[in-house]
Amino acid sequence: MKMNELNLVYFSPTGTTRKVVMEAARNIDLKSVSFDLTVHKEKKPSLKFKSNDFVLFGIPVYGGRVPKTFLEYFETLKGDNTPAALIATYGCREYEDTLLELKNEVESRGFKVIGAGAFPVQHSIIRQIGMSRPNKNDLKIIADFGIQLNRKLRTAENFDNVNIQIPGNTPYKKYGTIPLVPKADVSLCTECKACAKACPTGAISIENPKKTDKKKCISCMKCVYSCRQKARYVSKMKLTAAQKKLTKICKNDKQAEIFI
Ligand SMILES: Cc1cc2nc3c(=O)[nH]c(=O)nc-3n(C[C@H](O)[C@H](O)[C@H](O)COP(=O)(O)O)c2cc1C
Repeated sequence: MKMNELNLVYFSPTGTTRKVVMEAARNIDLKSVSFDLTVHKEKKPSLKFKSNDFVLFGIPVYGGRVPKTFLEYFETLKGDNTPAALIATYGCREYEDTLLELKNEVESRGFKVIGAGAFPVQHSIIRQIGMSRPNKNDLKIIADFGIQLNRKLRTAENFDNVNIQIPGNTPYKKYGTIPLVPKADVSLCTECKACAKACPTGAISIENPKKTDKKKCISCMKCVYSCRQKARYVSKMKLTAAQKKLTKICKNDKQAEIFI
């Protein structure tokens, strides 16, 4: 098929999903345009794609589901039988219904999913889990996913009969709540507002960045990663409890899965 542009539409609070998306994209021979939906926007951008565009969607798994914040951008998302591929990164526990949910959501908005991949990586909350992933071998698999997508785009005349089978269940897993809302250490915070500007949900007050709206916070950890003063933190007690629970159920040797 003669394709126009590669569009990278992703949500990546701590940067791992972005890294995986870029590695796959590097192997697709099309000019690329990025839509980083990690940056909070009151007014959602219009995301409209043509039938000869290719869209690569990338998200982290949150509680076995697509992050709600990402789906909020779907109100203005529209394809025209546009081919798309999906990337989900996860912290070595499980991805459960995430890819299936993402496939159903994008296909209901005019896209045709021609490939998908679930990639185990470092856990953004408990960083000892999946440490140093994606590693060399993971990056090779991710690059190969890009190569396979590129080949599919070049050789197929159309994708009318494509129906990628993706694991997952409906109804989807219930959204759980994560009680890990980062706070500001007032003795370290210089009120530089980097955290407030970085927050993908607008949960941190620009006027007073020491204040966080607990209801808006999605525990993505972007504020913790972006604070140069190391003033943003999660309660040690809660973090230790999460670590205990997660180290039992996460497996550092999880393998990537590709559906194409
Ligand atoms: C709120 C939250 C929920 C998460 N839920 C899961 C999960 O259900 N399964 C899993 O294996 N990893 C889970 N993770 C880990 C992330 O999916 C993983 O670290 C991801 O690669 C982070 O992507 P990013 O660096 O692009 O933000 C979760 C992380 C966060 C912050």
